[in-house]
Amino acid sequence: QMLKVFVTRSIPQEGMKLLQKAAMCDVSVWDSDEPLPRAELLKKVEGAHGLLCLLSDRIDAEVLDAAGPNLKVISTMSVGFDHLAIDEIKKRGIRVGYTPDVLTDATAELTVALLLATARRLPEGIQEVKSGGWSSWKPLWLCGYGLSGSTVGVIGLGRIGLAIAQRLKPFGVKRRLYSGRQPKPQAGELGGEYVPLDTLLCESDFVVVSCSLNPDTQELCNKAFFSKMKNTAVFINTSRGAVVNQEDLLDALTSGQIAAAGLDVTTPEPLPTDHPLLRLNNCVVLPHIGSATFSTRGVMAELSAQNLLSGLTEDAMPSELKL
Ligand code: GLV
Ligand code: GLV
Repeated sequence: QMLKVFVTRSIPQEGMKLLQKAAMCDVSVWDSDEPLPRAELLKKVEGAHGLLCLLSDRIDAEVLDAAGPNLKVISTMSVGFDHLAIDEIKKRGIRVGYTPDVLTDATAELTVALLLATARRLPEGIQEVKSGGWSSWKPLWLCGYGLSGSTVGVIGLGRIGLAIAQRLKPFGVKRRLYSGRQPKPQAGELGGEYVPLDTLLCESDFVVVSCSLNPDTQELCNKAFFSKMKNTAVFINTSRGAVVNQEDLLDALTSGQIAAAGLDVTTPEPLPTDHPLLRLNNCVVLPHIGSATFSTRGVMAELSAQNLLSGLTEDAMPSELKL
């Protein structure tokens, strides 16, 4: 019996090759760089045994019902899985694959790049050069904040959070604080200090959000959160947009409650081009490119294909999400 596989977007060759080589699979792909409309997803998924999806595909009861009883594996080409209705998936006995570890380095690098770009005001500077606003070297022009001697607070010291903290250490960061559900043994060699969230917010010059999105972290960064931060502090989020209450962030940035924000993730994605956050000089917004290196995306595609195929043959997946 041929097993039906649906892939919701064009993915890198490294993944497609594996799927096309699998003799047991009848693979169809939404062969575009743009997302498929919801109605198409509901149609294409019908009868599928395996679904390979992206973080921009919301996989809920409606999609699972449209797929029907054949569906036994969902493989997402992402480390985040907040777009998957885990309870519904579990209820139906469907297995889930995802791509942790392989994007840790790329995402940590992007986070450091965004932090420096925001703190040292690179987008503003580039704009001034292009627009003719650069008239002279000026003692107080385009000053920002440096990492040397600073305190960095990481919220959620998981794989990526730890990789961020490790990369920031050589910049001469004085203290590395972190908060989360429990202290992490891996923080030891880093000299990481486990502190309550309030302490982290009060004492950090850079607050970096690297936790997963779940009911506990939804809108964790709200008015009360920002009000505890220093007026000179920089806020960075490369996890999920919904961890932040964006109205409250906007207020904190316009009122001077905090100095600046760098976001790789927003609600919604894409952010409408007339969104007020995009009018602020002290807010740097990137289009969710944390894992976007050629090699990382190739490995993510390969791993998600391997996860899918292992799920179909009822073998152990290289990276299965424990449900
Ligand atoms: C990126 O945000 C991912 O979850 O892989
Ligand atoms: C900067 O370019 C300096 O010389 O101080």
